Amino acid sequence: MDMHPPKPASRPDKVSLWRYLRLFRKDILSAQPNKLYRAWMAEFRTPFFRSYLVNDPTLLKEVLQARPDDFPKSDRIGAGLRPLLGNSVFLTNGATWKRQRRIIDPAFEGGRLRETFPGIQAAADAGVSRMTDQADGMPQEIEAITSHIAADVIFRTLFSIPIEDDTAQQVFEAFRAYQRSQPILNLAAFVPGPSWMPRLFRPQTRATAKTIRLLITKLTKERLALIATGQAPDDLATKILTTVDPVTGDTFDLDEMVDQVAIFFLAGHETSASALAWALYLLALYPDWQDKLAKEADAFDGSFSGLSALKHTRDVFRETLRLYPPVPMMVRETALSEVFRGRQVDKGAQIVVSPWHLHRHSRLWDQPDAFDPSRWDTDSGKVSARQAYMPFSLGARVCAGAGFAQIEGVVLLAQILKAYKFEVVDGRSPVPVAHLTVRAADGIWLRIVSRAP
Ligand code: HEM
Repeated sequence: MDMHPPKPASRPDKVSLWRYLRLFRKDILSAQPNKLYRAWMAEFRTPFFRSYLVNDPTLLKEVLQARPDDFPKSDRIGAGLRPLLGNSVFLTNGATWKRQRRIIDPAFEGGRLRETFPGIQAAADAGVSRMTDQADGMPQEIEAITSHIAADVIFRTLFSIPIEDDTAQQVFEAFRAYQRSQPILNLAAFVPGPSWMPRLFRPQTRATAKTIRLLITKLTKERLALIATGQAPDDLATKILTTVDPVTGDTFDLDEMVDQVAIFFLAGHETSASALAWALYLLALYPDWQDKLAKEADAFDGSFSGLSALKHTRDVFRETLRLYPPVPMMVRETALSEVFRGRQVDKGAQIVVSPWHLHRHSRLWDQPDAFDPSRWDTDSGKVSARQAYMPFSLGARVCAGAGFAQIEGVVLLAQILKAYKFEVVDGRSPVPVAHLTVRAADGIWLRIVSRAP
């Protein structure tokens, strides 16, 4: 097949600021001009501040890897998420952020990941059984299915409870409402307005954030009690709550842990659900690849060490994260004045890093819009990967769950493809839009067919 997987239409190169903002409110991907797929840097002028979208690989390494302290997270971004996330590691900067990462990172180290594997497997099995009823050949909305599975993974690995648990179920429902009421993560970085301007929250957003935090507080309190009596299960929550920061000697207190659980749940399930849904769509579009993965899945023995044999599955997952990076854009602020590509960039400017554009950049990739999982084995694919692939970001602020997410993605794909085949529905090609993560405007619809004889 020569056709490329779906890509949103770009806007015309020149539009008025007001038209741009209207487009922006609808969707940040289609609000951008086509030239961002070939430019090294683009400047956006608004009445109150400037934004620079950076695609230049050398400059990106400078911002994310070499001098991250000079490019902190912008408060504008935090504003939209603070009612839910409080002082979570996703929003903090400086010494607070460094201390939080020192406590969180040990829980996600390579050695610990093996211990999360049974939880991921159990969520995959539960998801496969739930799908029995949907495998009737009728069109099914796949994002709802993958969100359910990804939420289950987080509850099982973090708190050793399945999604059917009462509190887990309530958190999951409340997050769904939150996602609808607080749609766009990065909007605030582009919207012209002084930083003191109150951001427009719908009252419902705040109410939902409060509900979620109450539920998470309950889970965390119960866990602290189990830790105190020595009866806590050995999962991510226990590990994080008992890790002592080697520098300050502190552990997280209840409030700070609630902030972290909120971000683990949000960052951990929204992103993985998006990736898994797009992967299944791509496999339905390219049945040859789906067959290859199903064969690999059949040979998979379900053990942690058996994962290394799932090579094609890994390549498909990587290619999915290239074409549909769940976090399409990230924003930083300049702490100093800078000179970027010969241009003066003032202190307080917004720096936009866009995996979405970088991963499809015409000067950095061969056939940027084509689905080609075998590119990762080619020399040119390897060069592009080093320069222009960052679905988990790079440097000190790299995704804390990157290793976890890659294992999760491969395990879920293998277990699901072992049991089911996915087919496209004519006339229902998904249109990518940026909500909290990259989703399809009207969902991703596929037919699910059982592979059982
Ligand atoms: C396919 C799945 C995932 C993708 C594509 C992804 C992507 C990202 C990206 C791009 C960032 C950086 C955002 C920024 O700098 O503005 C990030 C941060 C983060 N992610 Fe993930 N993520 C995924 C899964 C997970 C999972 C499973 C967890 C935890 C269980 C997680 C926890 C975090 C945390 C805590 C941060 C904040 C790190 C910091 O600022 O120091 N993510 N993720």
